[in-house]
Amino acid sequence: MKNKIIAGNWKMNKTRPEAEALIKELLPLVADSVNTVIICVPYTDLHTAVQLTKGTNVHVGAQNCHWKESGAFTGEIAPSMLKEMGVEYVIIGHSERRTYFGETDATVLARTQAALQAGLKPIVCIGETLAERQSGRMQQVLTRQVVEGFKDITAQQLANIIVAYEPVWAIGTGVTATDEQANEAIAFVRGVFAQKYGKVAADALYIQYGGSMNDQNAAGLLAMSDVDGGLIGGASLVAAKFAAIVHAHG
Ligand code: 13P
Repeated sequence: MKNKIIAGNWKMNKTRPEAEALIKELLPLVADSVNTVIICVPYTDLHTAVQLTKGTNVHVGAQNCHWKESGAFTGEIAPSMLKEMGVEYVIIGHSERRTYFGETDATVLARTQAALQAGLKPIVCIGETLAERQSGRMQQVLTRQVVEGFKDITAQQLANIIVAYEPVWAIGTGVTATDEQANEAIAFVRGVFAQKYGKVAADALYIQYGGSMNDQNAAGLLAMSDVDGGLIGGASLVAAKFAAIVHAHG
């Protein structure tokens, strides 16, 4: 079995002093983890996070990046700017960006390509809404997100990508997918990747579960065969809870 990749998505939370306090509390709690630990913080906290985690086992990610290297894109951040700061990962296509900021499979692909080009490791998010699940379209939606969102991605590039399956209905709602639901959906997604990239590459691909994962339910979810880690929102804002998730498996 692979080790797990546990990533915190702080979303739009934590000022610099708050980030500093949280990271300083977290570092000793996760220092001996066998799993990979990533914190994806707001842009304004990136410098703080990179400095504080230097020489530790905690990696730093951003929550978005633009698809161009530079230019007249007011308010956007280029992947190379993140890379230069010492950022290693970047979340792409989170459902909140798809819902509130018009992100599409095409822009997800463009951002992923740009991130890879800059040497960042994208964490690409996919997932169905409640309406899509209830109307029996879950597999169709996940297939589309993978086929369109990874259209030009080569097998070599895929090796540097993490996928996060985040059912939209489970995000921030306290309603978690059951262990079986998470495993079934991720196994399905892995099958879609296998069709394009082959079984070996699909098996090697890390696919996380995200959506109300917390210190209580993490062990069950992470014990599932296809669940390669977690992308954690709310619970990543509390050091003890996030550390408990990091230690829930392995
Ligand atoms: P919650 O853990 O707060 O449900 O958020 C999940 C998520 O969206 C992580 O990207």
